[in-house]
Amino acid sequence: MIFTIAELKKRLEQALSIAFGTDYATVDPILEPASNPKFGDYQANVAMALAKPLGQAPRAIAEQIVQHLDVSDLCEPPTVAGPGFINLRLKTDYLETQLSTTLADTRLGVARINKPQRVIVDFSSPNIAKEMHVGHLRSTIIGDAIARVLEFQGHDVLRLNHVGDWGTQFGMLITYLREAAPAALITADAVDLGDLVAFYKKAKQRFDEDEAFRDTARQEVVRLQSGAEDTLKAWRLLCDQSRREFQTIYDLLDVTVTERGESFYNALLSDVTADLDKLGLLVTDQGAKCVFLEGFSNKEGEPLPLIVQKSDGGYNYATTDLAAIRYRIQQDQAERILYLTDIGQSNHFAQVFQVARRAGWLSDTVEVEHVPFGLVLGEDGKKLKTRSGETVRLRELLDEAVNRARTDLETRIQAEDRQETEEFVAHVSQVVGIGAVKYADLSQNRTGNYIFSFDKMLALNGNTAPYMLYAYVRIQGITRKGQIDFEQLGTHRKVQLQDETEFALAKHLLQLDEVIAQVGHELFPNRLCQYLFELSQKFNQFYDRCPVLQAEEPLRTSRLVLCNLTANTLKLGLSLLGIPVLERM
Ligand code: ARG
Repeated sequence: MIFTIAELKKRLEQALSIAFGTDYATVDPILEPASNPKFGDYQANVAMALAKPLGQAPRAIAEQIVQHLDVSDLCEPPTVAGPGFINLRLKTDYLETQLSTTLADTRLGVARINKPQRVIVDFSSPNIAKEMHVGHLRSTIIGDAIARVLEFQGHDVLRLNHVGDWGTQFGMLITYLREAAPAALITADAVDLGDLVAFYKKAKQRFDEDEAFRDTARQEVVRLQSGAEDTLKAWRLLCDQSRREFQTIYDLLDVTVTERGESFYNALLSDVTADLDKLGLLVTDQGAKCVFLEGFSNKEGEPLPLIVQKSDGGYNYATTDLAAIRYRIQQDQAERILYLTDIGQSNHFAQVFQVARRAGWLSDTVEVEHVPFGLVLGEDGKKLKTRSGETVRLRELLDEAVNRARTDLETRIQAEDRQETEEFVAHVSQVVGIGAVKYADLSQNRTGNYIFSFDKMLALNGNTAPYMLYAYVRIQGITRKGQIDFEQLGTHRKVQLQDETEFALAKHLLQLDEVIAQVGHELFPNRLCQYLFELSQKFNQFYDRCPVLQAEEPLRTSRLVLCNLTANTLKLGLSLLGIPVLERM
């Protein structure tokens, strides 16, 4: 298998080195997809960048590169256009061979990364006894897709659930439950998790209003942190209960994630402060130990502190994240750490990264990235709420998606006078409903707010999961009817490209490698959705224009190969988004 982009880059680098000396062998040739298909498939823009260092006109530079550029096995003769763009058009027989090879490749021509990294994806991360809300749903869906892409590329991925299972919220909750529902502290499942969330809200209210309550709650936190048996037991019960509830959501979404909550780092927190102190970074300010941040100031323009230990001795969210980053680098040997939370936590992470860097835990060999996303809004553009104004419970939201998918399906089955088993109906509704929620989220640029609309996400038309699933089903139907054994076909049968729509589809099929590399690098799954959406559109244009089953051989087989490749690409692409395909729907 030739990886087109990598190969073209290599050839361009060779040409650069022959034309201008070995110093130029490592210059980035700035290879990009052509801005207009009229000019070719790719363009290299390096000549413009070299004008200054070489002291020559970019066009002359481009011409010298082309003179030494040997791509005759891949491309038509390269041309120079405009101020100095080098245009490259792939040869038809190269495309045809690539397609045949891709058909026989289980990775569909996507290269395994040559330098796999140890990557930590910190995602989902709900808080015990608090609600797992739509923000956590976004984190779960986007984080899972990113992890899937990185795993497919060949990275060594550790998926971590940084559950909020420690700290002041337990002090409040346990104190409150001691009065209101003491059974919940000694027996499993004595109260419903929904009640727990309600109890937490009331506890919070008491904490804010009642001085005595506040004191007891704080003592309870100290008891927890110093390992008092009864408090620890209560804590374990509460965590177990939340954990089981979270697990039902992960099962529904088919997401795996390893729990390593905040409590995991408890024993390391004093080390972290001691370390910072030794390095001279720690300043005591009004009793609190903090690190003064560079580049962050408050409204009065004074430098902002990151509080590492509060005046009452307690640690906070940031301290835990400092312990976590240190542990992940030193113990897990992470080379890249991704944090999926809403955009509101950007400052928090920038601050944690800064302190970790100044402490020497985080060096340039480790990449850390906050991967932020926007809010989930209702169709009215306001924060998503139920009709009665409550926060939406995730379980109910997902169930509703599945139920609506079921109603749509049953209507269709009736209209088409089909007979289907209950098993079929249940399975299809589940895949369509959950897939729709995932795809709707993933197909948006994650940094923006996202409007949650059941009607839009379940529509059979547009950039939606049902549309993509349907495209797959339809193509499978064609290849099934065509009755060729693709497994047997291998590279024996050549693809023959004739029609313009066949070229467009073929070229798009061969770009999967680039798209996946881009998603792995930039972490925008919507790029993959867009690619798949365009793939099905290009397929439809081809299918409208070119007879497949009715075509004469060898065109018939060639076109069936294009159909099959399209289906396989949709299947692989959707699986990386966490969406399984259906054979019928
Ligand atoms: N539990 C946090 C929240 O609900 C998210 C944790 C994200 N991960 C981290 N390492 N801080 O907002």
